[in-house]
Amino acid sequence: MNVPIHQITLSNGYAIPSLGFGTWQTPDGQTAVNAVKTAIDAGYRHIDTASIYGNEIGVGQGIRESGIPRRDLFVTSKVWNDDRGYDKTFTAFEQTLSDLGLDYLDLYLIHWPASKSRYHNWEEINLETWRAMTELYKAGKIKAIGVSNFLPHHLNALMHTEIPPMVNQIEFHPGQMQQETLDYCNAHHIIVEAWSPLGTGRLLNNPTLVEIAKKYSKSVAQICIRCCLQHHTIPLPKSVTPARILENAEVFDFEISKEDMAMIDAMPYCGGSGLHPDEVEF
Ligand code: A2P
Repeated sequence: MNVPIHQITLSNGYAIPSLGFGTWQTPDGQTAVNAVKTAIDAGYRHIDTASIYGNEIGVGQGIRESGIPRRDLFVTSKVWNDDRGYDKTFTAFEQTLSDLGLDYLDLYLIHWPASKSRYHNWEEINLETWRAMTELYKAGKIKAIGVSNFLPHHLNALMHTEIPPMVNQIEFHPGQMQQETLDYCNAHHIIVEAWSPLGTGRLLNNPTLVEIAKKYSKSVAQICIRCCLQHHTIPLPKSVTPARILENAEVFDFEISKEDMAMIDAMPYCGGSGLHPDEVEF
């Protein structure tokens, strides 16, 4: 099965597939290996992981065993909060490359901003991390750099650096459209990626989505993913179940109408993780 996933161009001209495969909460070992191989076999070419997920070894093995040339895959990882800062970012990056068994990354992200509420020098910490990412980018070890869970005020501090972020990966799904952050990113040529597009599964029985899904003869998961695509974000659905991995990629053969998109956009807050970048305790 090969799904027609198209490419989006980042602000530096690098191409990123419009749908990615999420691996948050995927256990390392054979589960991660099998999930990644199944996804690549189903047509995904964009794999998203992070050092804190603890599965980079299995994800890397899955990538190598897929038989697809490295250059045809787009691989993302993220620097964890304990590794913020200039020197630590380099060390974390080398560890990630070694665990994945790769010699470059397509995209590397700051996983969470140092936040105002926890650090008086939050701007400086983010800038120092960013300075290391910029050097790795300029050295060709990362093809694109970005951030995750950054709100407009966190982004503002990076917009006047030598290389501004190309991507912001945020929690984005029906019931949690971060409109202000999306608008900011659109205005600054930052592509938004959607983590937990299914609300980590919490949206699957939502009555509004169930009704809409029936109308299109699609699953609620497919409606959630399609909705992210129609908002020009890059959804990163996670699954370890082969049938679901395939189902989540079959989202390019239908379009949600304007009216139904409006209904989804008007849904009250639901399905969210409750994690606020300025309030998280990690
Ligand atoms: P599993 O990995 O056991 O298949 P999100 O991408 O929003 O974080 O959601 C991931 C969660 O949703 C996981 O628990 C995953 O379960 C489940 N899931 C993924 N795809 C589907 C699907 N198509 N139908 C039902 N549940 C799904």
